[in-house]
Amino acid sequence: MAKVVAFSFGRKMSNTEVMLKEVLKKCQEAGHEIQFIRPDDLDIKPCTGCCGCVVGILTGRTNGTCIHKDDFHIVEEAYYSADAIIVGSPVYETSPSGTFKTFCDRLGPSHDIAFLTEAKKDRLASGDPNVLLPDEIVFKPRVGALVGVGGARTENWTIFTVPIMYESMMSAGVDVIDTHTYFGAMNVQHVLGVPEQMERMDKMAQNIIDALAAETEEERTKWRGETDGACPVCHQSMFRVHEGSDLVECAICGINGTVGLVDGKITYKFSKEEQMRSRLKYAGKLEHRNEIADGAMTQKKVENLAELKKPYLHIGE
Ligand SMILES: Cc1cc2nc3c(=O)[nH]c(=O)nc-3n(C[C@H](O)[C@H](O)[C@H](O)COP(=O)(O)O)c2cc1C
Repeated sequence: MAKVVAFSFGRKMSNTEVMLKEVLKKCQEAGHEIQFIRPDDLDIKPCTGCCGCVVGILTGRTNGTCIHKDDFHIVEEAYYSADAIIVGSPVYETSPSGTFKTFCDRLGPSHDIAFLTEAKKDRLASGDPNVLLPDEIVFKPRVGALVGVGGARTENWTIFTVPIMYESMMSAGVDVIDTHTYFGAMNVQHVLGVPEQMERMDKMAQNIIDALAAETEEERTKWRGETDGACPVCHQSMFRVHEGSDLVECAICGINGTVGLVDGKITYKFSKEEQMRSRLKYAGKLEHRNEIADGAMTQKKVENLAELKKPYLHIGE
C-alpha cells in the first residue's frame, strides 16, 4: 500500500476539488491510503525572500527551516508522507491561483532535492559526529499528476496553468507522469455533469496506481499522459523561441533544442545531454544548486551600499 495525497486550490466542493477527490477515491479503492488538503484553508504566509532556508542548508545549520511559524508544516508533512501527489488549481488569468504560487515558493529551495542531497554528502564527509542530516523521508521517490480547471471555452485561456504547475513538483524532484486541463468548465454547473472529465480522472487514478505498482524506475517514472508533447522530458509544448536562430528552449525544463520543418510539420530535437540537464532531473537541479552556492560564496560586495541606497529610501512611498 502506498499513500496518495491531493492538494486542491479550487473552491470547496467545486470542479477542481471533486476532480481530485475522484482520483483519490479510485486510488483508495485500489488499496492505497489517501489524504486531501485544501491549502487555502491553512495559514500559509508568502515567502519573504530572506533566503534563510538556502543559507541554512548551505551552512549546515538547518535542513531548510523557514522563518515563518504558520501552518505550512501541515503541507510539508503530507507532501513528504506521499508516494504520489496530485495538485489541482483553477485557472485565474490564464495561470494557476495566487495561493498555488505561494505554496510553490514555500516548497522552493528549502525542499530542493539537490540542495538536500549535497548537504547530506558534505555533512557526512565532514566527519563531525554531531552534524544535522536531512530526514531520509525527503529522498523518497514520488510520482505526481497535475490538473488545471478553466472556465473559458477556449483552451488558450488556460495556457500557463499546467506549465506553471510543474513548479509544485520541481524542487522535491517529483516525477510528473500525467497532466490534464479541463477547459470550458463554465459551460456546465459542475464537473459532476461532465462524465468524460470524470472518466479522465479515473484514467489519471489508474496511471498513478500503475506507476505505484511499477517494478522498475523506468516504469515508475514513465510518462502516461494523453499526448506526448513536443518536449521529450516534460511532455508539454511551451517553448521560448530565440529570434534569428533555430534554437528553442523548453520553458518548463530549461533545456535547449532545435526546431525544423519536415513535410510541413514542425520537428524538435533535444540531445540526450540537454535532456539530462532538465530542471526536472537531478543533474539539472544540481547545476542550479551549484550556481546558487557559488553565487552566494563569491558574491561581489558593493562599496558604500548603505550610502548608495539612501537617495532611494522614501521615493514614492
Ligand atoms: C479571478 C478569476 C480569473 C479567472 N480567469 C480565468 C482564465 O483566465 N481562464 C479561464 O479559463 N478561466 C478563468 N476563470 C474561471 C475559473 O477558472 C473557473 O471558474 C473554474 O471552474 C474555477 O475552478 P473551481 O470550480 O474548482 O473553483 C477565472 C475565475 C476567476 C475567479
